[in-house]
Amino acid sequence: MVLRTVEWKDNSVVMIDQTKLPNTLEYVTYTDYNQVADAIRNLVIRGAPAIGVSGAFGLALAALQSDATEKDELISFLENSKKILFETRPTAVNLAWGLNKIMQVANQAITVDEIRINVVETAKKMAEEDIQINMAMGKNGSELFDDNDTIMTHCNAGALATVGYGTALGVIRAAKDSGKNVKVIATETRPVQQGSRLTAFELKHDGINVSLIPDTAVGYTMANGLVNKIIVGADRILRTGHVYNKIGTYQIATMAKHHDIPFYVAAPLSTFDMKSNPEDVIIEQRKASEVTGIGDKKTAPDGIDVINPAFDMTPPGLISGIITENGIAKPPYEESIKKLFEAN
Ligand code: MRU
Repeated sequence: MVLRTVEWKDNSVVMIDQTKLPNTLEYVTYTDYNQVADAIRNLVIRGAPAIGVSGAFGLALAALQSDATEKDELISFLENSKKILFETRPTAVNLAWGLNKIMQVANQAITVDEIRINVVETAKKMAEEDIQINMAMGKNGSELFDDNDTIMTHCNAGALATVGYGTALGVIRAAKDSGKNVKVIATETRPVQQGSRLTAFELKHDGINVSLIPDTAVGYTMANGLVNKIIVGADRILRTGHVYNKIGTYQIATMAKHHDIPFYVAAPLSTFDMKSNPEDVIIEQRKASEVTGIGDKKTAPDGIDVINPAFDMTPPGLISGIITENGIAKPPYEESIKKLFEAN
């Protein structure tokens, strides 16, 4: 069975509850946009493209929930819902992208009925397009990988981080589907374990050879020649090629440079933020309890101060290529990224 992370069904949003993985594959159904906001905040759904589409579905629910009879009234309800959805997770730019796209469609419609129909249809289309984009990205990126490669990945940039197929894991899927025998090394990705809970689950589910390592074994695997390429996803990419991704990505990229191992990033154009500079990007800080315990077990003393950033920034000098649905950007990134957008 192909994993479908989020979808619109009978005027409701159905998602895999990723907090329950890998132990149970459970689906949740929401009819209120506040439930979708909670789901994004609490990592029931996560991964930049998946939260982008979920934000769009959340606003579509809001349009159906509101009993507004005038356009202005409905738009103001949607603006308020957008704010609540947007504030759930600030770093991944896909969330703002998804919400803005729905607001644009709502503003262009004339009647409240038209708004409701158009926002639902647009959100559904965004979900379908996400899978097509990932497959195009996979095809573009697979040429960078060879038979018998062992590829390291961090966090989960797979089907579970998108509507389906995945970004970084989509490229690995495409390489495998083109007949190459590839193996994956997944980092566990402390503190929330998106690597061990999600990537290991997803790849095993799909029959792709995967080994799990503790985050602290990244240097060991590189130094011992156990990995020869790396691919990760991204939450935000600036026009300069600065990549924001799951905490720990920066140290993997730095170590890859030291060991001369190519480090690739795969992300759709909706992950690019062509306006911001590094100092404008808010790095989300998460709960201390994610670090002071493992599951229900306490692993740190009470009252300890914790620093728990969800993401870090990898500078362009450490990145060998950025794979998108429009092609692969190579250094110098400011120029090559601009070209990818011009091809759009
Ligand atoms: O905190 P998460 O699980 O939402 O973080 C996800 C990542 O960092 C992914 O690598 C990124 O969103 C790209 S997903 C295609």
